[in-house]
Amino acid sequence: MMKKPLVTAAAIAGCGFFVLTGQQAAPPAVYTAAQAAAGRAAYQSSCAKCHTDTLMGRNGTGEVPEFLRVYGGKIPPLAGANSAFAPFMTKWGARTTKALYRRIQEAAGGFPPPDRRLDEELYLNLTAYILQANGARPGTQALTTSTAVEIRSIAPTLTDTQ
Ligand code: HEC
Repeated sequence: MMKKPLVTAAAIAGCGFFVLTGQQAAPPAVYTAAQAAAGRAAYQSSCAKCHTDTLMGRNGTGEVPEFLRVYGGKIPPLAGANSAFAPFMTKWGARTTKALYRRIQEAAGGFPPPDRRLDEELYLNLTAYILQANGARPGTQALTTSTAVEIRSIAPTLTDTQ
């Protein structure tokens, strides 16, 4: 008999948090529009040939260019989804912007020949662009290497629909 009220209280607290989250007007902004614009340019020159212009990656069907045969023509999405992979937000929503930054740094450095021009600032710009493509809004605060915000907390609209 002692436990029941506790469980109920926890359930109510849980609901309260949910409602509060749903009512938040504007999610925090963790990057600037300038970063995203620079990231877009870098993306188009270094990443789009594999991850595509829409960032949705490839599902291995249709014509597979020679350089993508090694991957079976399948490239994970950096926004949205394709039928060969889980949607980007399903995989990344609960992870942080910092984890995404690190993963981008790793991914961008991993393809020969390594692009030495891709320095820290460019990785941050690429991260900003990918966050923007997933529905996060730009603001006055720049993304830094220590920014660590849960991705779904800054891109809630798309998270809800995916
Ligand atoms: C030659 C094709 C190719 C290019 C160019 C390329 N990628 Fe990728 N990328 C892949 C493949 C294949 C994978 C999946 C295998 C892996 O995880 O390494 C991947 C994985 C990733 C991932 C991890 C996705 C996830 O959900 O775990 C990120 C992030 C990423 N790439 C970002 C980039 C960025 C940013 C660039 C440009 C700077 C880029 N990639 C350039 C082929 C490419």
